[in-house]
Amino acid sequence: MTRHLITSALPYINGVKHLGNLVGSMLPADVYARFLRLQGEDVLFICATDEHGTPAELAALEEGLDVAEYCRRQHAVQRDLGERFGLSWQHFGRSSSEQNKELTQHFARRLEEEGFIEERVTEQVYSIDDGRFLPDRYIIGTCPHCGYEAARGDQCENCTRLLEPTELIEPRSAVSGSTNLEVRESRHLFLRQSVLADEVRAWIGQQKDWPVLVTSIAYKWLDEGLHDRGITRDLAWGVPVPDRAGFENKVFYVWFDAPIEYIAATKEWADLDLDQQDLDQQEWKSWWYEADDVEYTQFMAKDNIPFHTVSFPCTLIGSREPWKLASYIKGFNWLTYYGGKFSTSRGIGVFMNDALELLPADYWRYFLMANAPESSDSSFTWEAFAGAVNKDLADTFGNFVNRCLTFTQRSVGAEVPAGGEDGDVERAFVADLSERVRAYSEHLADKQFRKATAQLRAIWATGNAYWEQTEPWKAVKTDANRAAVIMRTGVNLVRLYAVLASPIIPESAGRVLDAVAPGVAVRWPDDVGAELQALAPGSGFAVPEVLFRKLTDDDLAAWAERFGGAEEAKSA
Ligand code: MF3
Ligand code: ZN
Repeated sequence: MTRHLITSALPYINGVKHLGNLVGSMLPADVYARFLRLQGEDVLFICATDEHGTPAELAALEEGLDVAEYCRRQHAVQRDLGERFGLSWQHFGRSSSEQNKELTQHFARRLEEEGFIEERVTEQVYSIDDGRFLPDRYIIGTCPHCGYEAARGDQCENCTRLLEPTELIEPRSAVSGSTNLEVRESRHLFLRQSVLADEVRAWIGQQKDWPVLVTSIAYKWLDEGLHDRGITRDLAWGVPVPDRAGFENKVFYVWFDAPIEYIAATKEWADLDLDQQDLDQQEWKSWWYEADDVEYTQFMAKDNIPFHTVSFPCTLIGSREPWKLASYIKGFNWLTYYGGKFSTSRGIGVFMNDALELLPADYWRYFLMANAPESSDSSFTWEAFAGAVNKDLADTFGNFVNRCLTFTQRSVGAEVPAGGEDGDVERAFVADLSERVRAYSEHLADKQFRKATAQLRAIWATGNAYWEQTEPWKAVKTDANRAAVIMRTGVNLVRLYAVLASPIIPESAGRVLDAVAPGVAVRWPDDVGAELQALAPGSGFAVPEVLFRKLTDDDLAAWAERFGGAEEAKSA
């Protein structure tokens, strides 16, 4: 049987992530993992913090902490927020782990043995006052392409062009602001991607059903001609370069070791779990090495696509060992905040900790999946958020659960009533719902989250329509058997709707299931007719507390003021 390995792009360690980070990687990965688990599939969902690189060092410096200590604290913060958002990864690792050091060094050695590593002399910016090299973000200056004055040495945040530190105009040190800089020679390792380009192209060519967003970015890089890539830096924080004289003060570049952490985090997971080890010391490896029975799906935002379609595959293919390549890559466009950028450095937008302070995770999860930036960018606005919460969660799902259970409890007591038989209305209803559930399952399997969420909303709406069409409040006075059929269908629908909703809003769905079918293992439905008989006559239920609170104009005004609304986003 196929096993499913799922990873989401590893969030940078510096700072709490915002809703834009969440929607483009961790959240859809979680929804997909939950869906597959409910289908009875064997799923391993892995994530970790991406801890090396200059952003981590600079953030630690700003907080006056040793970088290792900074990372230890921030990892705990991010893991806690992820768990509170319901992210159901089996392990949330750290790229600074011993396991990642070993594996990163292993890949470097293999690449070297296969002739894909070359040592070259490069020109690097050196700060005389700081007494150190200034790679990547350690240097700031004016972008040679767009004139943006705070461009960083690796990339211009304004025009997104990739840069070399030596290209910056009027460069200065990000550590001290010093402009007392000079260019010095420094030896570095290069991965000969140019030699591996044809193999990468052939691999991308085999992927017939990948999103165009993903393949088009991959081909753009390949068509522009794959450059050999510097995979080491003059830094102290990172994975040390093994066995090489003159490289004692250098480490691997963060983008070399970070994706390897997908594999290393799997090993961290196995190493943590003693039972796992007793069972099979090598289980972690079976997910990654000669893993023909594994379907491996990666989730990420579009800025990460080149690294996952080209750079990381070069590492894996160049090792000449049978490591698992992605079976499918799901890429996302940007979620904007009122059309502008969410920005960690400028604090624009809603961050995971802010979000949970305002409302439970499911409110956000639902909105984000309903508005996932799949075919194009999409935008977060407080107005749209309130619409989704009030209309879909409260008025459609919440209302159906409440009206149906409350009415039944008042009419016949808190149990599924006996009597009567399904009529034409129920038969037509089941036929329609079966088709919708089939479509919904297909969208989830295809990782089409917007379409899936739209179908879920439509499915919920059919319940309210059924209830209004059959008018149980009338039937209960005139025809007890007919009323029993409607209420029995209704309570069973409540259960089914919660099961269907559980990949997207797991906590709320869990509360409904605890009320109507406590302790029963949840499985993905394959026969809607049978599902609507699952709770037999006599089966008891409770009426859960109101599931979703409605957001008021006052809420929106307060939040727009606190986080900035349309005006602030425009002027930013
Ligand atoms: N930290 C990167 C980002 O947030 C993603 C790294 S993905 C990995 O953009 F595979 F390299 F880890
Ligand atoms: Zn620029």
